This record gives sequence, C-alpha cells and structure tokens, in this order.
Amino acid sequence: MTIALRTQRLVLDDAGAADVDALLAVALSNPAFLATHEGSEGEPGRYDRSMLERDLAMADLDPLRHTLALRRHDGEVVGWADVLDEHPRDGVPWIGLLELRADVHRQGLGREAAQALADWYAGQGVARLRVGVDDGNEPAAAFWRSLGYRPVDRRERPSPQGRLGVDVLELALGGGLLTGDAS
Ligand SMILES: CC(C)(COP(=O)(O)OP(=O)(O)OC[C@H]1O[C@@H](n2cnc3c(N)ncnc32)[C@H](O)[C@@H]1OP(=O)(O)O)[C@@H](O)C(=O)NCCC(=O)NCCS
Repeated sequence: MTIALRTQRLVLDDAGAADVDALLAVALSNPAFLATHEGSEGEPGRYDRSMLERDLAMADLDPLRHTLALRRHDGEVVGWADVLDEHPRDGVPWIGLLELRADVHRQGLGREAAQALADWYAGQGVARLRVGVDDGNEPAAAFWRSLGYRPVDRRERPSPQGRLGVDVLELALGGGLLTGDAS
C-alpha cells in the first residue's frame, strides 16, 4: 500500500534518493533528538549521508513500513515521518517517527502531518494509532497530548545513550478530534 497525502501546506509521500540531503538536514537540525536515536563509533548523534541511505534502504525492505517526506507544495522537504501499518508487538499501526526541521517548528506543520496520517489510517478502518515518546522529550509529549494521544503503556528501548523509558501513547480514531484534510 502506498501512502500519498496532501494537506493545506504539505504533501506526504515516499522519501527517495533525491531527498537524502534534505532529510539529513532535518535529522541534523534536532541534535538532542538525533542523539537518542542514532550514533556511531560510540558517539551518540553521529549520523551521516551513508547511514541515512542505509536506513532508507532498510525501510524499503519492509512492505508494512512507509518512510515519507514532508514537502511543502513548492517541493521543499521540511520533515519526514516513518509509519508502520502493524507493529509486530501489538498489531497496531504506529507513527515511528515524525520530525520537522528545527527552523520550521511550532508553525502547525507537525500537527498537519500527524492529522493527515491519523485521518488516512482512520479511512483504512483502523481503530487506533500509536506513537512512542522517549522520557525527556517533553516537547513531543506536549505535541502528541495536544492532538488527543493518551498514555496506554510503558516500554524501554536501547538507545545510543543507554536504555530509555518510552511512553506508548494512543489515539482513538474516529473520535471527532481529527480535522486534517488529507486526500
Ligand atoms: C514534536 C514535533 C514533531 C512537533 O512539530 P511542530 O510542527 O513543531 O508542532 P506544531 O507547531 O504542529 O504544534 C502543535 C501543538 O503541539 C504542542 N507543541 C508543539 N511543540 C511544542 C513545544 N516545544 N512545547 C510545548 N508544546 C508544543 C502545542 O500545543 C502546539 O500548538 P500551539 O503551537 O498552537 O500551541 C517537532 O517539534 C519535532 O520535529 N521535534 C523533533 C523530533 C521529535 O521529537 N519528534 C517526535 C518524536 S515522538
């Protein structure tokens, strides 16, 4: 299944080789977040073009996973999202990543993208959508809370900085909170 969504200011569609430089700029613009996800040679946050290309290639191998570029209508890539149709542990779709370039934070673009994804899954007849928020990522916790996501579970994951606690948040779909205009 291919996901291609249009919102008021964004298009969300498959990230490809031509997007690598722009996606690297997104990843490097949020260094604290990057350090909780990526690293090499014992250095949390160390991330480069070849690592990103490898991540895109890995995602491509999984038919249930979609790595999407978030493009303005003029084509500029301002963020990315990684979504999974079915998490292997709970069978529920997950937003594995949603990241906007730091210079465009707090303009409502993250909300627009997240609502488009929730609307799309709701349209597939899915009842709930999940996301994991690492302990310490307060802006993300506030963001998902503002969209109606509520905690349903606690997990832990390994990270380049050691083990991290994760809040599993869930949005009940079709509950009237979603106002995106995904098409
Ligand atoms: C979290 C993230 C995706 C939010 O995207 P965004 O486009 O900046 O957020 P929006 O402008 O759409 O914010 C929508 C609402 O979320 C809440 N919110 C967003 N950022 C917030 C912050 N830093 N502090 C408090 N509340 C915040 C607010 O309620 C906001 O509404 P308001 O601006 O009208 O008050 C973005 O900050 C990001 O890319 N962060 C780095 C990566 C990351 O942590 N991703 C989430 C992984 S779980």
